[in-house]
Amino acid sequence: MAEEKDLGEAQLAHWQDTYAAHPGMYGAHPSAPAVHAARVFHTAGARDVLELGAGHGRDALFLAREGFLVQATDFSATGLGQLRAAARAQGVAERVTTLVHDVRDQLPVPDASVDAVFAHMLLCMALSTSEIHTLVGEVRRVLRPGGVMRHRRRGRSPSSKAKTSSGTHPSASALTRSRGKKCTAKPPCSQMSSP
Ligand SMILES: C[S@@+](CC[C@H](N)C(=O)[O-])C[C@H]1O[C@@H](n2cnc3c(N)ncnc32)[C@H](O)[C@@H]1O
Repeated sequence: MAEEKDLGEAQLAHWQDTYAAHPGMYGAHPSAPAVHAARVFHTAGARDVLELGAGHGRDALFLAREGFLVQATDFSATGLGQLRAAARAQGVAERVTTLVHDVRDQLPVPDASVDAVFAHMLLCMALSTSEIHTLVGEVRRVLRPGGVMRHRRRGRSPSSKAKTSSGTHPSASALTRSRGKKCTAKPPCSQMSSP
Protein backbone atom coordinates (compact mmCIF):
# COMPACT_ATOMS: atom_id res chain seq x y z
CA MET A 1 0.00 0.00 0.00
CA ALA A 2 2.79 2.40 1.00
CA GLU A 3 4.65 1.27 -2.11
CA GLU A 4 1.64 2.14 -4.31
CA LYS A 5 1.38 5.53 -2.67
CA ASP A 6 5.08 6.18 -3.28
CA LEU A 7 4.71 5.12 -6.90
CA GLY A 8 1.73 7.44 -7.33
CA GLU A 9 3.62 10.35 -5.85
CA ALA A 10 6.64 9.63 -8.02
CA GLN A 11 4.46 9.52 -11.13
CA LEU A 12 2.78 12.77 -10.29
CA ALA A 13 6.10 14.49 -9.68
CA HIS A 14 7.38 13.05 -12.92
CA TRP A 15 4.49 14.39 -15.00
CA GLN A 16 4.53 17.75 -13.30
CA ASP A 17 8.25 18.11 -14.08
CA THR A 18 7.82 16.82 -17.61
CA TYR A 19 5.07 19.26 -18.57
CA ALA A 20 6.99 22.11 -16.94
CA ALA A 21 10.10 21.22 -18.94
CA HIS A 22 8.27 20.49 -22.20
CA PRO A 23 5.15 22.67 -22.47
CA GLY A 24 2.71 21.37 -25.08
CA MET A 25 4.92 18.33 -25.60
CA TYR A 26 2.36 16.28 -27.55
CA GLY A 27 1.72 19.08 -30.00
CA ALA A 28 -1.37 20.96 -31.05
CA HIS A 29 -2.93 18.33 -33.28
CA PRO A 30 -5.41 15.80 -31.89
CA SER A 31 -4.52 12.14 -31.62
CA ALA A 32 -6.07 9.79 -34.21
CA PRO A 33 -8.14 8.06 -31.48
CA ALA A 34 -9.61 11.45 -30.51
CA VAL A 35 -10.62 12.12 -34.11
CA HIS A 36 -12.26 8.69 -34.19
CA ALA A 37 -13.92 9.25 -30.82
CA ALA A 38 -15.38 12.57 -31.97
CA ARG A 39 -17.11 10.81 -34.85
CA VAL A 40 -18.51 8.19 -32.49
CA PHE A 41 -19.60 10.82 -29.96
CA HIS A 42 -21.32 12.91 -32.65
CA THR A 43 -23.12 9.83 -33.93
CA ALA A 44 -24.24 9.02 -30.39
CA GLY A 45 -25.60 12.56 -30.00
CA ALA A 46 -23.22 13.29 -27.13
CA ARG A 47 -22.78 16.76 -25.68
CA ASP A 48 -20.96 16.38 -22.36
CA VAL A 49 -17.60 14.66 -22.60
CA LEU A 50 -15.28 13.70 -19.75
CA GLU A 51 -11.62 13.19 -20.66
CA LEU A 52 -9.37 11.28 -18.26
CA GLY A 53 -5.61 11.96 -18.33
CA ALA A 54 -6.01 14.93 -20.67
CA GLY A 55 -2.49 16.26 -20.15
CA HIS A 56 -1.94 19.62 -21.84
CA GLY A 57 -5.12 19.08 -23.80
CA ARG A 58 -4.50 18.45 -27.47
CA ASP A 59 -7.54 16.13 -27.53
CA ALA A 60 -9.74 18.04 -25.08
CA LEU A 61 -9.25 21.19 -27.15
CA PHE A 62 -10.06 19.35 -30.35
CA LEU A 63 -13.23 17.94 -28.79
CA ALA A 64 -14.19 21.44 -27.65
CA ARG A 65 -13.60 22.78 -31.17
CA GLU A 66 -15.87 19.98 -32.37
CA GLY A 67 -18.61 21.49 -30.23
CA PHE A 68 -18.58 19.22 -27.19
CA LEU A 69 -18.60 20.50 -23.62
CA VAL A 70 -15.45 18.96 -22.21
CA GLN A 71 -14.42 18.28 -18.64
CA ALA A 72 -10.71 17.56 -18.84
CA THR A 73 -9.08 15.80 -15.91
CA ASP A 74 -5.49 14.93 -15.13
CA PHE A 75 -3.45 14.71 -11.96
CA SER A 76 -0.94 17.20 -13.36
CA ALA A 77 -2.01 20.73 -12.55
CA THR A 78 0.85 21.91 -14.75
CA GLY A 79 -0.51 20.10 -17.80
CA LEU A 80 -4.01 21.41 -17.12
CA GLY A 81 -2.67 24.95 -16.75
CA GLN A 82 -1.25 24.67 -20.26
CA LEU A 83 -4.60 23.31 -21.44
CA ARG A 84 -6.48 26.31 -20.03
CA ALA A 85 -4.07 28.79 -21.62
CA ALA A 86 -4.47 27.06 -24.98
CA ALA A 87 -8.25 27.01 -24.59
CA ARG A 88 -8.25 30.78 -24.08
CA ALA A 89 -5.94 31.29 -27.07
CA GLN A 90 -8.20 29.15 -29.27
CA GLY A 91 -11.40 30.80 -28.08
CA VAL A 92 -12.89 27.62 -26.63
CA ALA A 93 -12.43 28.36 -22.93
CA GLU A 94 -16.18 28.38 -22.42
CA ARG A 95 -16.41 24.82 -23.64
CA VAL A 96 -13.66 23.35 -21.47
CA THR A 97 -13.35 22.96 -17.73
CA THR A 98 -10.37 21.38 -16.00
CA LEU A 99 -10.24 19.29 -12.85
CA VAL A 100 -7.07 18.11 -11.14
CA HIS A 101 -7.84 14.48 -10.42
CA ASP A 102 -6.05 11.18 -9.88
CA VAL A 103 -7.96 8.38 -11.60
CA ARG A 104 -7.25 6.15 -8.62
CA ASP A 105 -9.78 8.28 -6.75
CA GLN A 106 -13.52 8.56 -7.27
CA LEU A 107 -14.33 10.56 -10.41
CA PRO A 108 -15.19 14.13 -9.43
CA VAL A 109 -18.49 14.25 -11.33
CA PRO A 110 -22.04 13.25 -10.37
CA ASP A 111 -23.79 10.04 -11.32
CA ALA A 112 -25.16 9.86 -14.89
CA SER A 113 -23.86 13.31 -15.79
CA VAL A 114 -21.81 12.80 -18.97
CA ASP A 115 -22.61 11.38 -22.40
CA ALA A 116 -19.13 10.19 -23.25
CA VAL A 117 -15.77 9.39 -21.67
CA PHE A 118 -12.46 9.55 -23.51
CA ALA A 119 -8.99 8.47 -22.42
CA HIS A 120 -5.85 8.32 -24.54
CA MET A 121 -2.64 6.80 -23.22
CA LEU A 122 -3.91 6.85 -19.67
CA LEU A 123 -4.68 3.19 -19.08
CA CYS A 124 -1.10 2.23 -19.86
CA MET A 125 0.04 4.22 -16.85
CA ALA A 126 1.01 2.43 -13.67
CA LEU A 127 -2.47 1.43 -12.58
CA SER A 128 -3.14 -1.89 -10.87
CA THR A 129 -5.83 -4.27 -12.11
CA SER A 130 -7.88 -3.43 -9.07
CA GLU A 131 -7.55 0.30 -9.73
CA ILE A 132 -8.66 -0.21 -13.33
CA HIS A 133 -11.67 -2.25 -12.18
CA THR A 134 -12.63 0.52 -9.78
CA LEU A 135 -12.21 3.09 -12.55
CA VAL A 136 -14.47 1.03 -14.82
CA GLY A 137 -17.15 1.17 -12.15
CA GLU A 138 -16.69 4.89 -11.88
CA VAL A 139 -16.98 5.39 -15.63
CA ARG A 140 -20.18 3.38 -15.54
CA ARG A 141 -21.49 5.50 -12.68
CA VAL A 142 -20.92 8.85 -14.40
CA LEU A 143 -22.15 7.88 -17.88
CA ARG A 144 -25.74 8.58 -18.73
CA PRO A 145 -27.76 5.65 -20.07
CA GLY A 146 -26.64 5.09 -23.63
CA GLY A 147 -23.34 6.85 -22.95
CA VAL A 148 -20.16 5.73 -24.64
CA MET A 149 -16.53 5.41 -23.71
CA ARG A 150 -13.58 5.37 -26.07
CA HIS A 151 -10.11 4.73 -24.79
CA ARG A 152 -6.84 3.78 -26.28
CA ARG A 153 -3.61 2.77 -24.79
CA ARG A 154 -0.41 3.06 -26.74
CA GLY A 155 0.17 0.50 -29.45
CA ARG A 156 -3.32 -0.95 -29.83
CA SER A 157 -5.76 -0.23 -32.56
CA PRO A 158 -8.56 0.41 -33.12
CA SER A 159 -9.76 2.40 -30.16
CA SER A 160 -11.30 0.11 -27.58
CA LYS A 161 -14.94 0.74 -26.99
CA ALA A 162 -17.55 0.27 -24.38
CA LYS A 163 -21.20 1.23 -24.35
CA THR A 164 -23.82 1.54 -21.71
CA SER A 165 -27.53 0.81 -21.86
CA SER A 166 -27.27 -2.20 -24.11
CA GLY A 167 -25.74 -4.33 -21.43
CA THR A 168 -22.26 -3.76 -22.71
CA HIS A 169 -21.02 -1.50 -19.99
CA PRO A 170 -17.33 -0.65 -20.00
CA SER A 171 -15.95 -4.08 -19.43
CA ALA A 172 -13.32 -4.77 -16.89
CA SER A 173 -11.71 -7.28 -19.18
CA ALA A 174 -11.42 -4.80 -22.06
CA LEU A 175 -9.86 -2.23 -19.83
CA THR A 176 -7.67 -4.70 -18.03
CA ARG A 177 -6.16 -5.63 -21.35
CA SER A 178 -4.94 -2.08 -21.45
CA ARG A 179 -2.48 -2.89 -18.75
CA GLY A 180 0.58 -5.00 -18.52
CA LYS A 181 2.30 -3.89 -21.71
CA LYS A 182 5.11 -1.49 -21.67
CA CYS A 183 3.89 1.90 -22.71
CA THR A 184 6.16 3.43 -25.29
CA ALA A 185 4.85 6.96 -25.36
CA LYS A 186 7.51 9.62 -25.53
CA PRO A 187 9.58 9.88 -22.99
CA PRO A 188 7.60 9.97 -19.77
CA CYS A 189 5.18 7.20 -20.51
CA SER A 190 7.85 4.58 -20.97
CA GLN A 191 9.36 5.59 -17.67
CA MET A 192 6.01 5.32 -16.00
CA SER A 193 4.92 2.00 -17.41
CA SER A 194 3.33 -0.65 -15.27
CA PRO A 195 5.68 -3.15 -13.73
C1 LIG B 1 1.00 9.67 -22.07
S1 LIG B 1 0.23 11.09 -21.34
C2 LIG B 1 -1.16 11.33 -22.42
C3 LIG B 1 -1.77 12.69 -22.31
C4 LIG B 1 -2.96 12.95 -23.24
N1 LIG B 1 -4.01 11.95 -23.06
C5 LIG B 1 -2.52 12.96 -24.68
O1 LIG B 1 -2.69 11.94 -25.37
O2 LIG B 1 -1.97 13.98 -25.10
C6 LIG B 1 -0.52 10.37 -19.89
C7 LIG B 1 -1.26 11.37 -19.02
O3 LIG B 1 -1.85 10.66 -17.95
C8 LIG B 1 -1.71 11.43 -16.77
N2 LIG B 1 -1.79 10.48 -15.66
C9 LIG B 1 -0.96 9.45 -15.38
N3 LIG B 1 -1.38 8.80 -14.29
C10 LIG B 1 -2.50 9.43 -13.87
C11 LIG B 1 -3.39 9.22 -12.79
N4 LIG B 1 -3.20 8.26 -11.91
N5 LIG B 1 -4.46 10.05 -12.66
C12 LIG B 1 -4.65 11.07 -13.55
N6 LIG B 1 -3.84 11.32 -14.58
C13 LIG B 1 -2.78 10.51 -14.75
C14 LIG B 1 -0.38 12.14 -16.92
O4 LIG B 1 -0.28 13.29 -16.11
C15 LIG B 1 -0.38 12.44 -18.40
O5 LIG B 1 -0.94 13.71 -18.66
